[in-house]
Amino acid sequence: MPPNSSAANAPLPALPSDHRELVLKVIPMPADCNANGDIFGGWVMAQVDLAGAVLPARYVRGRMATVAVNQFVFKQPVRVGDILSFYSHVTRIGRTSITVMVEVFAERFSAQGQYVKVTEASLTYVAIDREGRPRPIPDEARAEWKAPD
Ligand SMILES: CC(C)(COP(=O)(O)OP(=O)(O)OC[C@H]1O[C@@H](n2cnc3c(N)ncnc32)[C@H](O)[C@@H]1OP(=O)(O)O)[C@@H](O)C(=O)NCCC(=O)NCCS
Repeated sequence: MPPNSSAANAPLPALPSDHRELVLKVIPMPADCNANGDIFGGWVMAQVDLAGAVLPARYVRGRMATVAVNQFVFKQPVRVGDILSFYSHVTRIGRTSITVMVEVFAERFSAQGQYVKVTEASLTYVAIDREGRPRPIPDEARAEWKAPD
C-alpha cells in the first residue's frame, strides 16, 4: 500500500504494544510553532534525536554521539497540545554504532483515544571514547540484543 494513502494515515485505536518501546512523551507548546501555526519541524527533529538516544544509551554504556539521520519523514502535521508518544526499536547493532527506528504518534484534542502517526525516522548513534573517537559496543550489551525477525 502506498505510504501516503488515506488507509495508511487512518487513526489507530491504540498505541503499539509490541517490540517497540515507549521512550518519550511530550506536549508541544505555542512557542514551538512555525509560521503556519503547526509545530516547527526542527523541534520535532530535536525530540526524535533525544528519544532515539534512549535505547542506544543502554547498550553503549558511556559517551555516544548521533552520527546520522538516515531517514526522516513528517507524515502528518503536529499541533499545539497534541500528546506525542515516541516509540523506538533497535534495527541494527554494528561494531561501534547502533541504528534505531523512531515512530511518533499524536493523540489530538479533537480525537482523544485515537492516535495518528505523525513522524518516523531512522537514526544512527556511535559509541565514542574520551577523545571522541569511535569505540566498540561492549560484547555483553550486543549479546543482550535480539535482532528483529
Ligand atoms: C561520530 C564520529 C565520532 C564517527 O567518526 P567516524 O570517523 O565517522 O567513524 P567511522 O567512520 O569509524 O564510523 C563509526 C561508525 O559510524 C557509522 N557511520 C559513519 N558515518 C555514517 C553515516 N553517514 N551513516 C550511518 N552510519 C555511519 C559507521 O558505519 C560505523 O559504524 P560500525 O562501526 O557499527 O560499522 C564523528 O563522525 C563525529 O564526531 N561526528 C560528530 C557527532 C556529533 O557532533 N553529533 C551531533 C551531536 S551528538
